[in-house]
Amino acid sequence: MDAKDIMNVGVIGCGIICKNYLSNMVGIYPWMKVTACSDLIEDAARAMAAQFPGLRPMSNAELLADPSIDLVVNLTIPAAHFDLSMAALKAGKHVYSEKPLALTREQCEILCAEAKSRGLRVGCATDTFMGGGIQTLVKLVREGAIGKVFSINGNMLFHGPEAFHPHAEFYYSPGGGPLFDMGPYYLNTFIAMMGPIRRVCGMAVRGTPTRCFGNGPRIPKEQIGRPIEVHVDTHINGLLEFASGATGILTTSWDVWGTDTPNIEIHGTDGSIVFTDPNSYTGLIKLRRANDENWQELHPMHCTECGRGIGIADMADAILHDRPFRASGEMATHVIDIMQSILESAASGAAVTLRTSCPVPEPLPPWLPLGRLA
Ligand SMILES: NC(=O)c1ccc[n+]([C@@H]2O[C@H](COP(=O)([O-])OP(=O)(O)OC[C@H]3O[C@@H](n4cnc5c(N)ncnc54)[C@H](O)[C@@H]3O)[C@@H](O)[C@H]2O)c1
Repeated sequence: MDAKDIMNVGVIGCGIICKNYLSNMVGIYPWMKVTACSDLIEDAARAMAAQFPGLRPMSNAELLADPSIDLVVNLTIPAAHFDLSMAALKAGKHVYSEKPLALTREQCEILCAEAKSRGLRVGCATDTFMGGGIQTLVKLVREGAIGKVFSINGNMLFHGPEAFHPHAEFYYSPGGGPLFDMGPYYLNTFIAMMGPIRRVCGMAVRGTPTRCFGNGPRIPKEQIGRPIEVHVDTHINGLLEFASGATGILTTSWDVWGTDTPNIEIHGTDGSIVFTDPNSYTGLIKLRRANDENWQELHPMHCTECGRGIGIADMADAILHDRPFRASGEMATHVIDIMQSILESAASGAAVTLRTSCPVPEPLPPWLPLGRLA
């Protein structure tokens, strides 16, 4: 492949999720080459680079100044996303960020406007909706397998990442919480199936004012039991009204110890679908059409071997071929607007009409092998 047909990628933020990205990006998509990584902690960048061929550890400043790097992937913590993504755009690089794209809809709009004014692109996780499980779900719903959809329910019920994440403080600061952290997996799935949302209501509570680190394998011994201050709501009920007229409920919680509720249920005029965790590139679909006596289990009809980074590969290919891409900054902005508006509604007691919308991501063709998007 000619150098002009390849996007060079630099990754900033070499923490827990970085290795997962690199394992699913390096050597899989011929048009994308990861060439550099940086972190505030130099050793973290060095250790990450040592595990992948072709990666050079750098400082943030070196990475942003390197003219060979076309696209920056921002895998830092939410509070750092806006400033670093803006710095990357100002350095002339396209940006793909981990979620949330920024802390507020206003910051997201500033990033997207900055990119547009410079002829650059902004993309954002989550990209699990491009995996085989959700793509199969999208195909079924969009092709009318359960008729006209009138209700979608999402339930992310769990007891918080402090059990296993050694830097869990960021999950309880602005930009974290179960809604901002996990909501994007659900909302991107909902938008890919049903299009944008026009109005929301919310109610939210905060289970406890502090949480304590658990004893997961990554938590250092001396950290176990250390308190974390909670600065965000930790159980949030959101009511959704789609532009199509369908309704939905999204409950996200880090206060729940146990549940039997499915992650996603979709109800239409001709049947219902139950789906597993949207934080996955695979999944199991249960379909029950009108008058069926039993549920039918369906397995993915799309590639399930992909992982975090398929959205970046799609974005890189889109830049090379001047086409739209799926995990877009516009969709991420709409998702932040939905989540921020649910929290604003919870505070004010009034429904909020959203000011943003977004393009609906194009479904992927079924049965593509890993490393192909068309
Ligand atoms: N851990 C997960 O399971 C997971 C899964 C999906 C998405 N995410 C998202 O990925 C992002 C990172 O999560 P993580 O779990 O890897 O966090 P982490 O704390 O383990 O890693 C973040 C890394 O970013 C570095 N960093 C922070 N500010 C920086 C800056 N200004 N410049 C350079 N480096 C900087 C830190 O030193 C750290 O190494 C978050 O937005 C999170 O929501 C995490």
